[in-house]
Amino acid sequence: MFEIKYKDACGRIGTLDVNGKKLETPYVFPVVNPNLLEIAPKELKKLGFNAVITNAYIINKNPELREKALKLGVKKLLDFDGIVMTDSGSYQLYGYGSVNITPEEIISFQAKIKSDIGVILDIPSKPDIKREEAEKELEETLKRAREASKLEARKKILLVSTVQGSTFLDLRERAAKELAKLNFDVYAIGGVVPLMESYRFTELAKIIIHAKRYLPLDKPVHLFGAGHPMMLSLACALGCDLFDSASYSLYAKDGRYITEHGTLHVSEMNYAPCNCPICSGHGLKEIKEDSKLLALHNLYAIKGEIERIKEAINQNSLWNLVGQRCRAHPKLLEALNAVLSGEYEKNFEEMEPATKSSAFFYFGKGCMHRAEVVRHAERLKNITPSAKSLVLLPYRQYYPSKTGSNEKYSVCYLSPIFGIIPSEVEEVYPLAQHIFTLPIEEYQKHMMKRAAYEYMKNFSHVFIHNSLRELGIEGEEITSDVQKELVRNDEIKLFGIGDYLFGKGAGKIIFENCTVKYAKTKKMRQVFDKKRNLIATIRASDGIPIFTKQGTLKLKKLKFPRSRVVLKKDEEVENFIRKGKNVFAKFVKDCDSDIRAGSEVLVVNEKDELLGYGKAVLGAREMLAFERGMAVEVRFGFED
Ligand code: GUN
Ligand code: ZN
Repeated sequence: MFEIKYKDACGRIGTLDVNGKKLETPYVFPVVNPNLLEIAPKELKKLGFNAVITNAYIINKNPELREKALKLGVKKLLDFDGIVMTDSGSYQLYGYGSVNITPEEIISFQAKIKSDIGVILDIPSKPDIKREEAEKELEETLKRAREASKLEARKKILLVSTVQGSTFLDLRERAAKELAKLNFDVYAIGGVVPLMESYRFTELAKIIIHAKRYLPLDKPVHLFGAGHPMMLSLACALGCDLFDSASYSLYAKDGRYITEHGTLHVSEMNYAPCNCPICSGHGLKEIKEDSKLLALHNLYAIKGEIERIKEAINQNSLWNLVGQRCRAHPKLLEALNAVLSGEYEKNFEEMEPATKSSAFFYFGKGCMHRAEVVRHAERLKNITPSAKSLVLLPYRQYYPSKTGSNEKYSVCYLSPIFGIIPSEVEEVYPLAQHIFTLPIEEYQKHMMKRAAYEYMKNFSHVFIHNSLRELGIEGEEITSDVQKELVRNDEIKLFGIGDYLFGKGAGKIIFENCTVKYAKTKKMRQVFDKKRNLIATIRASDGIPIFTKQGTLKLKKLKFPRSRVVLKKDEEVENFIRKGKNVFAKFVKDCDSDIRAGSEVLVVNEKDELLGYGKAVLGAREMLAFERGMAVEVRFGFED
């Protein structure tokens, strides 16, 4: 069973339950060759690798290893007490064209040697083969997967099936759809090693996206043969959870030193850009002469990058890390550009958290297709302008001021990333939390002009700041008399925030007749109803209102299913939530499809009775897909 703890982009930090042991993802399995254990698996464990992958086919083929594995189990064979995954020999099939074992035998063998995670004998198709050939091989893989899913042996181990389909994206989709029906424990994406070897990262990225589209969200996805630190963050951002790598050792034998930016020839190096125990404890000279030391450094490089990726997910800054890593190689940047070309906007929007703890950094044109930008364009339509006159100002990094929309003027800013930003929502993430490069690029100027003219249609008068005339935008001058009147109206601001976050008209329903208290920082801080009850606190970091019990009752007035997480009928669970306990995904029956990880949500029963209020941990699709893990972190419950 798999559950998610933290999310960012399509990446996730998760826990996979493996025979009572927990494997935290993302994770790279070091490949262990059962014939020559140069670095003992025990040593790998000391480095922090709690799970390894080895090859059941190679064990089976060697009589001595085979006997020992059958008698003592693969863990004793490797002298390793962590988690052992075994591959099936598919890769040997790939190299030699055939293997002398049946698909069923190799799965039973993996169970008999007590592997924790086994793999079906899939057929890795090569890139660029004829479509008919790829189809034929895929049908064979799918047939084997269907048969494997019925085997007795699969109850004893976690079983992996592999998405194949060569470089045909529609075949990858078909494979994912078919395998998704079979309830495997882990899904893999295979046949991609030649793409990685030749730096065809764009095709690799597309294969991942198209496969992920149809793979079950509640299962980890393994990218076979991937483990180089330079591409791990991209693969994680696309939703891969597991990886395996023999490169730490293969490269070491070749004198190659792995870094998060690429691979160096150790013989050509004069300095070691690494602080791992190997590089800081040994001179470069020693490392050059000892391939085991080099292999150990390579392992540290992989492990270090996995830790960085996890921390980036934790900080919601995974795109920033990916942006940095993909600048290490033009073919990685090409892949990132393809991923963020706009074609996959929806894939990302569905998975991205509602709000983030890191600012939105602009790293190039691709960022214009990120979920934050797509969402802003949608949400902008929710806001009804407060007046018939528009005052358009250049975007400036947010600072508290009294300027803002009122009944006479609707004040908006023009951002090179988000276009029109009504002053009502200027503090809401990511509108106050985006940082871009200057000078503004040509295409951004065009976008800004287009956005301005589109928005102006709603107004009978338009006043513009002089600096915007450079963009070719025309309008009346903002005289000092107009300037004096641009004082924000608190209720209008609240209506704007409500509409922006919860839909057209929501602001009035939630915030009518409310008053506001400002913090010392001059930011809006607390919202009170007309009886002076506190109904919400505006979170300083992202401008999102966090409601009190009184406020939650107002939020509840929004039309079903807005912001709702609906629980399955279960009195015991209902009582737990009423007492303020968290909601687990398996109890979720339905929910508002607009909910994303981090959204503030109402927890209700099927009769739409309010049980609790809290923060979603998963997005709508995930809440419905997962059987394990938390769906809503409940802030408080509502007793009957
Ligand atoms: N190792 C690298 N690629 C593959 C693949 O496509 N399938 C399996 N089973 N193992 C692999
Ligand atoms: Zn090192």
